[in-house]
Amino acid sequence: MQKVTEEIYNKINNEIYNLEGDRWWQPDFSLNLIKTLVNPFRVGYAKKVFEEFKIDSGKTNVLEVGCGGGILSEEIARMGFITTGIDPSEPSLNIAINHAIKGNLKINYEKGTGENLPFQNNSFDVVLCCDVLEHVYDLPKVISEISRVLKNGGIFIYDTFNRTYFSKISTIKILQEWRRWAIMPPNLHVWEMFIKPDEIKFLLQKNQLRWKEHHGIKPNISYLKMIRYLRKRAIGELSYVEFGKKFLMVESYSTQIMYMGYAVKHSDA
Ligand SMILES: C[S@@+](CC[C@H](N)C(=O)[O-])C[C@H]1O[C@@H](n2cnc3c(N)ncnc32)[C@H](O)[C@@H]1O
Repeated sequence: MQKVTEEIYNKINNEIYNLEGDRWWQPDFSLNLIKTLVNPFRVGYAKKVFEEFKIDSGKTNVLEVGCGGGILSEEIARMGFITTGIDPSEPSLNIAINHAIKGNLKINYEKGTGENLPFQNNSFDVVLCCDVLEHVYDLPKVISEISRVLKNGGIFIYDTFNRTYFSKISTIKILQEWRRWAIMPPNLHVWEMFIKPDEIKFLLQKNQLRWKEHHGIKPNISYLKMIRYLRKRAIGELSYVEFGKKFLMVESYSTQIMYMGYAVKHSDA
């Protein structure tokens, strides 16, 4: 798999993360839905992997690539890991830094992109990258950088969107484009930048990362019910807070829309 073309990359609106104000932690903003709807599943999944590998939090260096306002990094720090978050967006990092200070959490936040991680080789035991891989310009470079900064035996945990007909309808058309239901800004995601499971497996393999598994992610209510809630949110009958309490993302057998997985670095892979 190649990096995306400039024409496609120019479509994605990553400027959303540079807007003024705290859109990550203030409850009535769309980005806060990451905290209420998606994060519980990711954190549970990461914990399961940590347990499987008997990872001792106190001595473990964890990096979150594309940490945004720190929603996931804070959970990692709270588990006792030595936590670092990097993101290209300075406004988002400032929100993350201030929120961690208020919560008395020690997290090292740095500015940087996944394509050029500002860390030495073999620095981290775990790298997390959630809802970011489908935002980057050069995915092969990001995966090779993640592998470079991981120690041998280190774990890479990620989630992303699959490039299927269903993801186009649900994530692009319904959530962003069709005004009847859209509650996300246009071009928050660009379908052409979504990643098929086999494409990421290929890149992992190429970069000494031994792929282990993928699990699908779906809402714990029917899609029909979700559509009704989206409509209520779109016409203002539900706030983002109320909408965020209606359901949760959970594990699914289907990877058609979103999936999460992990790989282990093996220098001889
Ligand atoms: C949907 S947010 C996810 C934030 C965070 N991972 C979370 O789940 O709470 C996408 C993030 O990716 C960041 N991003 C965009 N391009 C990136 C790149 N090339 N390298 C690293 N992060 C990037 C954005 O600034 C934004 O904070």
